[in-house]
Amino acid sequence: MPILLFANQKGGVGKSTLAVLYANHLSEVNKNIKVLIADIDFQKSIKRLRDEDMSLYDSKEINVGYEIDSFNVNTYEQSLTLMETATKYVGENPNSVVIIDFPGQINENIGVCIHSADYIICPLRYDPIVMSSTSMFISIVNKVKMEKSRDSLLFVPNRIKRNEGTVKERMVKKETNRILSQYGTVLPQVTDCVDIGRLSTIYNTKRQVEVTKECFEKLDAIILPEIFK
Ligand SMILES: Nc1ncnc2c1ncn2[C@@H]1O[C@H](COP(=O)(O)OP(=O)(O)O)[C@@H](O)[C@H]1O
Ligand SMILES: [Mg+2]
Repeated sequence: MPILLFANQKGGVGKSTLAVLYANHLSEVNKNIKVLIADIDFQKSIKRLRDEDMSLYDSKEINVGYEIDSFNVNTYEQSLTLMETATKYVGENPNSVVIIDFPGQINENIGVCIHSADYIICPLRYDPIVMSSTSMFISIVNKVKMEKSRDSLLFVPNRIKRNEGTVKERMVKKETNRILSQYGTVLPQVTDCVDIGRLSTIYNTKRQVEVTKECFEKLDAIILPEIFK
């Protein structure tokens, strides 16, 4: 059963957002799936969001679909503990998945996490600064996972404008996707959408479901067979 790592060297690309949206989606799709989010952001952003969500609802009434646990990955030992905990969780719980949201500032300990993760979901944007960080991140994944790298890397173009874009923008996008395809799978894009900002750890809004639908369906096709293995 899989361990998913939402990661990129670049901050602000949507790692935490997509990790939460996908966790909500998975626990909605099939109630038998046991999801654990490992929040290793030093600001504990997902854990804090869950606490806020819980304060909005009567905690007796609300039935949360999954657990969120905080971990530190400041040292090599802590990273090892996180991955051992994740591996134990997926090993002991049938139909389970661990979703790890990696913080913006990646350190040398990420190697341990990349090594033990089954899939690395890498949100990105088609702009030169994001792509330059993304290519550095891809080379780290390549070094750590070697021949497994291509099957593990799943790219999510995120915050894409709804309109078609200029001829040049479309060319950049096509060429970027062609290059990314050599290193992994490029999933359908997620458009830029105000409603994404109204993130909760309880459920996805109708609009959030709409903008992530195509991407998550493709992701499900890869992840669900691993969950029910
Ligand atoms: N598809 C999207 N549409 C609109 N806003 C988005 C989208 N994806 C992410 N965001 C916003 O971008 C910001 C950064 O996202 P976040 O998930 O915190 O990035 P990261 O975890 O990679 O640092 C947040 O304010 C989030 O609401
Ligand atoms: Mg984040």
